[in-house]
Amino acid sequence: MERRRVGILGATGMVGQRFIQLLHHHPWFEIAWLAASDRSAGKRFDEACRWKLDTPLPAGIAAMTLMPNVPEGMPSGELPKIIFAALDSAIAYELEPKFAAAGCAVISNSSAFRMTADVPLVVPEVNADHLELLESQVWRKDAGGYIVTNPNCCAIGLSMALAPLAQRFGIESLFVSTMQAVSGAGYPGVASLDILGNVIPFIQNEEEKLQEECGKLLGTLVGDRVALAPMKLSAHCNRVAVEDGHTECVSIKLKRPATYEQILNAWADFQPLAGIHEGKPLPSAPDQPVEYAGEMDRPQPRLDRMRGNGMAATVGRLRPCNLLDWKFVVLSHNTIRGAAGAAVLNAELLAMLGKLDWKKWTASAHKHVTAALV
Ligand SMILES: NC(=O)c1ccc[n+]([C@@H]2O[C@H](COP(=O)([O-])OP(=O)(O)OC[C@H]3O[C@@H](n4cnc5c(N)ncnc54)[C@H](OP(=O)(O)O)[C@@H]3O)[C@@H](O)[C@H]2O)c1
Repeated sequence: MERRRVGILGATGMVGQRFIQLLHHHPWFEIAWLAASDRSAGKRFDEACRWKLDTPLPAGIAAMTLMPNVPEGMPSGELPKIIFAALDSAIAYELEPKFAAAGCAVISNSSAFRMTADVPLVVPEVNADHLELLESQVWRKDAGGYIVTNPNCCAIGLSMALAPLAQRFGIESLFVSTMQAVSGAGYPGVASLDILGNVIPFIQNEEEKLQEECGKLLGTLVGDRVALAPMKLSAHCNRVAVEDGHTECVSIKLKRPATYEQILNAWADFQPLAGIHEGKPLPSAPDQPVEYAGEMDRPQPRLDRMRGNGMAATVGRLRPCNLLDWKFVVLSHNTIRGAAGAAVLNAELLAMLGKLDWKKWTASAHKHVTAALV
């Protein structure tokens, strides 16, 4: 299969670097365009980026020139039709619609449009059907472009652990306390003097995001809107001195009683993407989306964050709760499953659904880009 050209907005940041790592040898996508802030535009990638991952920066990427972060000014046909975006939300709010209006599929990590009614907020294993929302977007109607988002890094792992329980038993309410890695704050992120030997019991807007995004993820598609799941969720979010991997301690009240074995079976049987792609898995989909770690002291970030190539949610320590019904621990890799890997999996699902094919949109999208150049 010919690989589709893709671009990355915010390519120099923590999530942008993960995109490069995950897409470099991707069977379906090929990195053709990179952009970051105006400070970086025009520079070689390796001059503008402090590469922080433990695999080498690919030589071909190092030599690429960072482009201006706008769709205008690109020769016709040069702007990739698929844009992975890893921007702060205020910047995303301004830039992502410009790319969608120029006919691009914008696959975003930022919170800017996650709760917008006609923007899908999707974890493929949890609510793939919500992708239909993108057909209502004005950009889609005008030029073929659209915005699809993935959730907050904690909401992804949590929703994967919750979805099978919601399907089998229903969820009444839950209490979540997070221990979130420093890479979740981007680079340079939290000052070392603030975080070393310390816990910071505050992450701006994080509790609100976790609460509302889980409601949308586990909600029901009704026409061109999502009816939020009626469960109650209370979150405490903490930053801890861990490099990568967000841990979440969960207490949950179910609508219908469930035994220990029934809950373990619900997680083990959770294979919603199995065979979705002509019997083959999507390239980034983990074989077992929710893995149970049976040892008494697991999951742990250093030992378990790379399960399923960093794309699985690992649960453990399932036990009765004195206040609600059950309690357990969830762990997921925040920049892979919680960010870039989640967006890549969304793109694979969009490709499989034919929503990255622009045949019917080509004429109008080209007209739009041409108009923007005048
Ligand atoms: N880190 C995580 O675990 C995680 C998880 C889920 C979601 N997210 C979300 O993903 C997004 C990116 O996070 P991050 O951790 O990668 O942040 P980051 O490391 O701070 O990177 C920010 C990126 O945005 C670029 N940028 C800054 N100002 C810009 C501007 N005015 N115009 C265009 N580009 C600009 C930066 O380019 P320069 O190098 O040129 O400054 C850099 O490429 C955020 O919305 C974050 O909430 C992060």
